[in-house]
Amino acid sequence: MTELDIDAERLLGRLRTLGEIGRDDGGKLTRLAASDTDRLGRDRVGGWMREAGLEILVDRVGNLVGLWRTGAEGAAPLMLGSHIDTVINAGIYDGCFGVLSGLEVIETLKAAGARPQRPLAVAAFTNEEGVRYAPDMLGSLAYAGGLGVAEALATVGTDGTVLGEELARIGYAGTQEPGFLRPHAYLEIHVEQGPVLEHQGIPIGAVENVQGISWQRVTIEGEANHAGTTPMRMRHDAGQAAARVVTFLRERVTRGNAPTVATVGCMTFEPNAINVVPSRASFTVDLRDPDEERLREEELALARYLDELAAAEGVTIQTERLARFAPVAFDGAVVAAIEQAATRRGLRSRRMTSGAGHDAQMIARLCPTAMIFVPSAGGISHNPREHTPAEDLVAGANVLLDVTRALCGG
Ligand code: GLV
Ligand code: MN
Ligand code: MN
Repeated sequence: MTELDIDAERLLGRLRTLGEIGRDDGGKLTRLAASDTDRLGRDRVGGWMREAGLEILVDRVGNLVGLWRTGAEGAAPLMLGSHIDTVINAGIYDGCFGVLSGLEVIETLKAAGARPQRPLAVAAFTNEEGVRYAPDMLGSLAYAGGLGVAEALATVGTDGTVLGEELARIGYAGTQEPGFLRPHAYLEIHVEQGPVLEHQGIPIGAVENVQGISWQRVTIEGEANHAGTTPMRMRHDAGQAAARVVTFLRERVTRGNAPTVATVGCMTFEPNAINVVPSRASFTVDLRDPDEERLREEELALARYLDELAAAEGVTIQTERLARFAPVAFDGAVVAAIEQAATRRGLRSRRMTSGAGHDAQMIARLCPTAMIFVPSAGGISHNPREHTPAEDLVAGANVLLDVTRALCGG
């Protein structure tokens, strides 16, 4: 294979440009799925796809795909991709790096006059983050057939909006059926969002699996009462009960050596007044573990604790499942191809598990799949300080280019 490199300045420039779309007056970047800012981001990325000569296709759940037919229409396409929706007050790399690297790889091959033996597609999947609509990775899940279109479009967001209505409003309710291209293989490059690669001084992660994810909403009903007059022993304090759950989770998952992680990221109280014992607390629980058995045990332990807590505090507790995905193993041959590509570039690599959820774990239901990670400075992500040095971004995108060439031939 002759040496070929991506255009580093084009890739880095686009990352910066996309990273400016969706900033509020205070400079915070937020592009929640199917919002006005998501529309602006999609328009920009779709524009770049069009300028690169790709055919733009949008499916019914809003997944945006740029397709280069390459003259090899009979063959199944190689798909690259990730997402461009963000969390609240986000960094510029999560997801965007994967979509823009996929586009960069395709443009590089086109400019070099390459003749891939299969079509090449780059996808930006809808609502990967799951901040506005649950479950996370909704677009890729629907693409892989794991969620029906009607159900996906009927999803009600944290702000009361309906996904299908919002997609129509922003002009991204497409006509293709999700899964309209059945890929030969899928590759996703992403920032690690954790500390491992940076700590070990290794530039490339060959991701061989993704841990399981369990999301629930817990609602505790107590009794509102006067904060000054109600003796402590007479209270049915939903806020106190919620706080006990936070502490229970932290203590339980830090007790042993298991890699389980638990997060309570959202919590609201009612009536939310300084001098009223909370009558209601509603909060989310994000539990993750690479081992399905252990993840199930943690879910059961939480359920048992909630039963005990309800009795002890005189409150009622309900849970609602928001997302549940078992751990996913990627394709060994694709992981090996990533390692080989890194070695040929003189880059050290290591196999690793993804702690974050990714569209790749859904597309893995359809075709051989794996991911490439590049280091995250300080292991920080879902934070505006998210950063990856330019050198690492470019090295990773070149590995994506080489694996693409290896999987496409020509
Ligand atoms: C997606 O970013 C996740 O929550 O892992
Ligand atoms: Mn991501
Ligand atoms: Mn994310």
